[in-house]
Amino acid sequence: MDNTTNNSALQKQHFGPDFTWGVSAAAFQTEGAWADDGKGPSIWDTFTQKKGKIHKQEDARIACDFYNRYREDIDLIKQLGIPNFRFSIAWTRIIPHGTGAVNQAGIAFYNQVIDYCLQQGVQPWITLYHWDLPQALEEQGGWTSRDSVQWFTNFVKVCAQSFGDKVKHWMVMNEPAVFTGAGYFLGIHAPGRTGLKSFLPAVHHVTLSIAAGGRALRELLPDVQIGSTFSCSHVEPLSTKPNDVAAAKRADVLINRLFIEPIMGLGYPATDLPVLKKLEKYMQPGDEELLAFNFDFIGLQNYTREVVKYSFITPYISATLVEAKKRDVPLTEMGWEVYPPAMYEVIKKFSAYSQIKNILITENGAAFKDTVENGEVQDILRTTYLQDNLSQVLKAKKEGCPVNGYFVWTLTDNFEWAEGYRPRFGLIHIDFTTQQRIVKASGNWYQKFLSQ
Ligand code: NOJ
Repeated sequence: MDNTTNNSALQKQHFGPDFTWGVSAAAFQTEGAWADDGKGPSIWDTFTQKKGKIHKQEDARIACDFYNRYREDIDLIKQLGIPNFRFSIAWTRIIPHGTGAVNQAGIAFYNQVIDYCLQQGVQPWITLYHWDLPQALEEQGGWTSRDSVQWFTNFVKVCAQSFGDKVKHWMVMNEPAVFTGAGYFLGIHAPGRTGLKSFLPAVHHVTLSIAAGGRALRELLPDVQIGSTFSCSHVEPLSTKPNDVAAAKRADVLINRLFIEPIMGLGYPATDLPVLKKLEKYMQPGDEELLAFNFDFIGLQNYTREVVKYSFITPYISATLVEAKKRDVPLTEMGWEVYPPAMYEVIKKFSAYSQIKNILITENGAAFKDTVENGEVQDILRTTYLQDNLSQVLKAKKEGCPVNGYFVWTLTDNFEWAEGYRPRFGLIHIDFTTQQRIVKASGNWYQKFLSQ
């Protein structure tokens, strides 16, 4: 294949025998069955019903129907020879109203998924929170309430007790910077709250919850591997002007440092972004220690780079992103720049923290316009994107960075949050009217790569 010319040397064995290979997905984006078998509503069920929030007013009531088709999808994972499957647990299936009664049907569903994975020789990797907070808890303040730490810890314990004998890899939360920024500051994701008064308490309670979740898992399951996943980007200033350079440094705090640093025991990076001093209002004595947890691995999720310039009109941060579409660069369907060196840069950046001993890339992938022709999807751009990113992972690894795994985002096309079903990230195409699955050329490439 021509498109692999630059990467023809790329081989799985270069990453070493202990490197973890996988594919990632998330409950709300794939399961559907939004009110089946006792499931309660989540903030995303509510948000998708509001007018004007989601592209074409789409929702995830059916999504990929993974709830009913998980066997078919896990069969496909096996067929592609992917040894590890990362998916999330919907809190509202386990505890429909967030606290209180446990729904045995929810526990049974995830037991079936886990058991089926294991039968097929696929290791299940669980993410405990991938953005679908129970709506009942949102009505009591959601993440802006300090009680959320208790609510979440209780949920973590129920999951640990229910699945801990079979699942050896756990991730506490997914991309806290994205769900607090988009959901509690910008209002473009659920629950649609805006402003610092929502954002800052959410940041603090989410960070406390990540550490508390880690501790709860460690206490109940001393032998499992515990991580949490973080969105990250390579941040560059638009120019060498001191204003732009300083703006990029402030943006870097929000994009890359806000959550990971307190978790490593370094406190919030308020020196480099003074508005974060306002977090003190929500801190209680002893919180600095409670924010920290020593994770076995850190999941990094990178898709692109960000270019930043000074802006005197942007409140609190005086910085703004220069959109990729204004920069004459190759774009994905998300409007994100295709820039594989960002992967290398973020691995280098996070490896420089002495506290981080083990990095896994828990998401990387791209949405491109796919077309089905003669029953096939020739998604050359996606294959090239994955290969180019993997080359960057390898480059960082060869330089000694402790990067030990890579998970493609994602198995099947699915519900891409506010963007609805338009951006397709899957290795497998889904026709959302018939639910028919077609393995794309990128899926076949991954299969071949993994079988070397
Ligand atoms: C990060 C999120 O974890 C996932 O839910 C999302 O679909 C991908 N990035 C792509 O935007």
